[in-house]
Amino acid sequence: METAKLTLRGQDYELPVFEGSEGEVALDVRNLRAKTGAVAYDPGFGNTGSCSSAITFIDGEQGILRYRGYPIEEIADRRFSEVAYLLIYGELPTAEQQAAWSKGLTYHTLIHEDMKKFFEGYATKGHPMAILSSMVASLSTYYPGNDDSPEIVNLNILRLMAKLKTIAAFAYKKSIGQAFIYPRNDLSYSANFLRMMFAVPAEPYEVNPKVERALNMLLNLHADHEQNCSTSTVRMVASSGANLFASIAAGICALWGPLHGGANQQVIEMLEHIEADGRNYKKYVDMAKDKSSGFKLMGFGHRVYKNFDPRAKILREAAQDVLAEMGIDDPLLEIAQRLEEVALHDPFFVERKLYPNVDFYSGIIYRAMGIPTDMFTVMFALGRLPGWLAHWKELRDDESGRIHRPRQVYTGATERHSG
Ligand code: SDX
Repeated sequence: METAKLTLRGQDYELPVFEGSEGEVALDVRNLRAKTGAVAYDPGFGNTGSCSSAITFIDGEQGILRYRGYPIEEIADRRFSEVAYLLIYGELPTAEQQAAWSKGLTYHTLIHEDMKKFFEGYATKGHPMAILSSMVASLSTYYPGNDDSPEIVNLNILRLMAKLKTIAAFAYKKSIGQAFIYPRNDLSYSANFLRMMFAVPAEPYEVNPKVERALNMLLNLHADHEQNCSTSTVRMVASSGANLFASIAAGICALWGPLHGGANQQVIEMLEHIEADGRNYKKYVDMAKDKSSGFKLMGFGHRVYKNFDPRAKILREAAQDVLAEMGIDDPLLEIAQRLEEVALHDPFFVERKLYPNVDFYSGIIYRAMGIPTDMFTVMFALGRLPGWLAHWKELRDDESGRIHRPRQVYTGATERHSG
């Protein structure tokens, strides 16, 4: 077995070394404290592997993203339900598996009628991410979720995959004072969601197939991203034995943060601000370079990607195509493209390897679909749900799993007495 040598205070130690299937090298520090009395210190976990996982592989230097080995470029246009199945169960579904999976997704879209009453209590202009997380946690009052048997876990996975879009659409209808539109069993996941969002009881609604296809791709591009903040949160909560709904509700809350899934909403607000301020790109790029300004170029930078986020590449093309197909001329697209050009030629961004990430262009497409800005992070959650479910299941299927409980380095007051 390969080992790494460590010398600490005159004592030599050997740490086991192992490799992942893509050649990633890991120091196994599981016995570090027992052997050396020292802990590893890595705030933000930029250098720490919290687990081994077979779901998604990212190579940040090369700009590679693969779901269960399939490159994102090849997966992006598959049916979202198929991609969800692949992430959760490890293989693309056979025709028979897809039929059963689609049937399950279709017949679990309704929420208990009593859950509609919850919406009466929410403030009309409350952020929909608050509604999404509380409604998901509340699902556990209908489906206890404390039964880890495969049939119950798979049933709850189906329930959540099917119901989250219903809850999301109801949250939007609540915010605009319109009637809830119930799902229909003859529509695809994306078409069903679009109809629940934009149909009204007074007239028929036809889903635009171009919008349906664009939404399907957006959901696929957001479906998983290994140990990002919200997925790590889902795994943290799952490690305590908490039920599926509680774990996913926690992931939704983590995604809400402006540095994570909330960035897509911040990007659009930033682009609108730059437009209102005379498109002075250089001013905003210079502000982003000045730490004291507190301003960041939202949608830029990534903990792992030190090259183009492959999702951003796909979304940059898709934004142009979707807007052209829909005959929409959104000035924010040109502003985003110019901002990207200016930033990518600026040494500050080049030296720090700051490139556009998944959030930089996604909002422009959501806008073109008529989705309001404060629903953008909800859209991210709809896409990310299969990834969260896959990681929840992978962690819970691991018999050797332990509760996540990091150590710390204490820097507070030493023992003292109040006298
Ligand atoms: C997502 O983890 C995932 O996989 C997430 C995600 C997923 O699919 O789940 O990909 C989705 O969350 C994408 C990221 C969305 N967030 C944003 O777009 C917000 C803006 N970006 C930054 O806040 C930042 O880049 C992060 C949060 C994304 C990453 O932060 P890190 O890895 O902690 O990097 P850092 O803050 O230490 O930055 C390194 C340097 C710093 O400057 P120096 O101290 O070296 O001088 O780069 C600077 C930062 O100040 N920097 C930026 C910047 N991002 C980093 N400066 C200006 N604008 C930015 N956007």
